Amino acid sequence: MTTQFVKINDVAAKESKAILEEAAKIIKNGGLVVFPTETVYGLGANGLDENASKKIYEAKGRPSDNPLIIHISTPDDAEKYCYTSDIYYALAKAFMPGPLTVIMPKKDIVPFTVTAGLDTVAVRCPANEIANALIEEANIPIAAPSANLSGKPSPTRADYVLEDMEGRVDMIIDGGECEIGLESTIVMIYGDSLTLLRPGAVTYDALCMVCEDVKIAPSVLEMLKENEKPLSPGMKYKHYAPESPLVLLDGDEENVIEYLRNEMKEKKCAILCYNEEIDVLSDAVLLPIGEKEDLAAHAHSLFTLLRDADKKECDVIYAHLPQKNGLGLALYNRMIRAAAHTIKKV
Ligand code: TXA
Ligand code: MG
Repeated sequence: MTTQFVKINDVAAKESKAILEEAAKIIKNGGLVVFPTETVYGLGANGLDENASKKIYEAKGRPSDNPLIIHISTPDDAEKYCYTSDIYYALAKAFMPGPLTVIMPKKDIVPFTVTAGLDTVAVRCPANEIANALIEEANIPIAAPSANLSGKPSPTRADYVLEDMEGRVDMIIDGGECEIGLESTIVMIYGDSLTLLRPGAVTYDALCMVCEDVKIAPSVLEMLKENEKPLSPGMKYKHYAPESPLVLLDGDEENVIEYLRNEMKEKKCAILCYNEEIDVLSDAVLLPIGEKEDLAAHAHSLFTLLRDADKKECDVIYAHLPQKNGLGLALYNRMIRAAAHTIKKV
């Protein structure tokens, strides 16, 4: 398959309209289009077409028991695909369009290939203008996982999509760098309560402002026990793994620096360091992740830096173990997976 690579700078421009029409046509005809969202790039297909959704699993090399999110252009559209509730509309009012995915009981119209056989479906209304315009133009829900090969970091730039997906999809729309850089927050509704399955830019504290009872699924913070079934199938797979081992350092900043200085003498180290540490660690391959307190910057750069770190062919990649507050919880969740839970206390 040849992959068309197209760029949209301004969604309102005349040439963008033609691109979006072409992309929507591909989706309606059962093809695959990669598009930008505010979180990460998505690999989209017609969410109501069994065969089209099967192609997504093939293109990604994704296990067929890992369900897809369907993307809608307005929160009310969820009504057509699942059984909503007051709490859904409260979430929609607070966070949509935006980086929140909500899981609810599915209606028959959604094929089981999309939900991987589950009776529930995940819906999300993205804030990115290109994503939104594409869904509107196609006038169908777009099923889309992150546009990486299974096991690679989610792509936050179109050139990373190209690395993974050239020849596997019909079209890639380059809409620039994704603003947030980590995948959406995922919650499941149970009656009047919510369970957080994947933390993201809509934080635990923000969810608590809308719902009094928000639980955190164990798989968010811990390694699954053998044979344990997580609420979200995706949590059981190894994720975002760089090829060099990633080790997370847990300790006071001075101890971390001292440890790294010793390691640097013996090994080729790549370090995801804070900007403030650049001067003191100058002998290693440094990948600055932002200022220490700027968690949004860390989120924005994490997946890019993991891909870059791999290209440096180092013996080991080091990073700070994130705190679990605010956006830190999402960083913690992604980083312990990328590190296969390797945490070194220093
Ligand atoms: O930000 C995002 O959410 C991006 C963009 C493209 O929208 N999408 C994304 O999709 O991250 P994906 O497929 O890479 O991750 C979706 C996660 C998977 O871990 C999957 O197991 C879970 O959502 N999921 C989907 N439907 C589910 C369901 N019905 N029940 C439980 N978990 C579900
Ligand atoms: Mg993914």
